[in-house]
Amino acid sequence: MSVGYTAIQWSRHKRVYDGIAASAAAIWMAAFLLLGKARWTGSHAVSDEILLIRATGSCAIALLHVILVIGPLARLNRRFLPLLYNRRHLGVMTFLIALLHAILVTGYYHGFGVLNPLLSLLSSSTNFASLRSFPFELPGLLALIILFLMAATSHDFWLRNLSATTWKRLHMLVYAAYGLLIAHVGLGALQNETAPLAPSLMFAGVLTVSTLHLLAGTGEVVKDRGSAPIVNDNDSWIDVGAPHDIPLNRARTVCASGGERIAIFRHENTISAVTNVCAHQGGPLGEGNIIDGCITCPWHGWQYRASDGCSPPPFTEKIATYQVRIIAGRVQVSTKALPPGTAVEPARIPEHADA
Ligand code: HEM
Ligand code: FES
Repeated sequence: MSVGYTAIQWSRHKRVYDGIAASAAAIWMAAFLLLGKARWTGSHAVSDEILLIRATGSCAIALLHVILVIGPLARLNRRFLPLLYNRRHLGVMTFLIALLHAILVTGYYHGFGVLNPLLSLLSSSTNFASLRSFPFELPGLLALIILFLMAATSHDFWLRNLSATTWKRLHMLVYAAYGLLIAHVGLGALQNETAPLAPSLMFAGVLTVSTLHLLAGTGEVVKDRGSAPIVNDNDSWIDVGAPHDIPLNRARTVCASGGERIAIFRHENTISAVTNVCAHQGGPLGEGNIIDGCITCPWHGWQYRASDGCSPPPFTEKIATYQVRIIAGRVQVSTKALPPGTAVEPARIPEHADA
């Protein structure tokens, strides 16, 4: 949580996370250089500079695949949640390695002419009609610009300044960057590949990213369909189930007809409901726990009081709350969102309710 600007708070988890990520990237590039030297020999031999260009490019795109699969994996299995916590650090690392790749490429292929290297890069091929000689550097450059915008705005300071919606939209551009990079590699490096390894790896990567997104997305749709039918009275209430169907200190999530997800929590002998959308980056609050009496987001740990959706002092974030009631042993939640921070009397679970 943030009050105004705060520098990155380094914790042990962040250091270990970054240490593992940086070591994995270094091992990838070192292995690429060694294996590349062994593989490209004789008439196929390539210079150390080209090897380094390939090692950094392949490392950046491999990191991007990791970033893209973390989200759906964490949705499908909570054990992957710790990876999600500092995913932004991976994003910044990807950008830095991609930038190194772009600088090396521009310097190596365009740095020795009379033209400015960037101009030379942009004007070296403009044959957009041909797949064979398409200027594949251009999608690479556009992707790099997107990665830069994301890395530059990755701090929570920007999240607050741009508003959560704009920030989220900006960061969804990662999928555009991914598409551009597939085009960059497909129309560039892969055109000259004769061995099946690189195209197969690329294909496996795209297949993994799309399948995991499809599986996680389908899971969400099934969950939403599973929301009990709307009880038709004047205010529209949704049946959530018996009080003890909601795990203690956890939530059940339902979906209103307008698509808004509502998280209904059971804490001690009370039931309360808040929006499922965290005010930080839209994390799924219904997948979080109640810790120290507060709903705690599973993504980065922002907290809200179940009774009024306000973060505990000194934090000032607020989320929408919903009315809840228990009728004939069934929990019902109103589909009408109350303004963020509205206090709502929690529903008390009757003592004789089925456990
Ligand atoms: C200004 C931006 C960029 C330019 C001008 C550029 C240019 C190039 C060039 C010329 C190659 C072929 C190198 C060779 O084999 O001789 C290449 C390969 C590659 N690039 Fe880029 N690139 C850019 C951005 C990126 C970014 C942002 C990524 C990934 C995040 C990336 C990933 C790759 C990959 C994976 C390869 C194939 C490496 C291999 O052969 O194993 N590039 N790039
Ligand atoms: S999305 Fe970051 S704490 Fe909820």
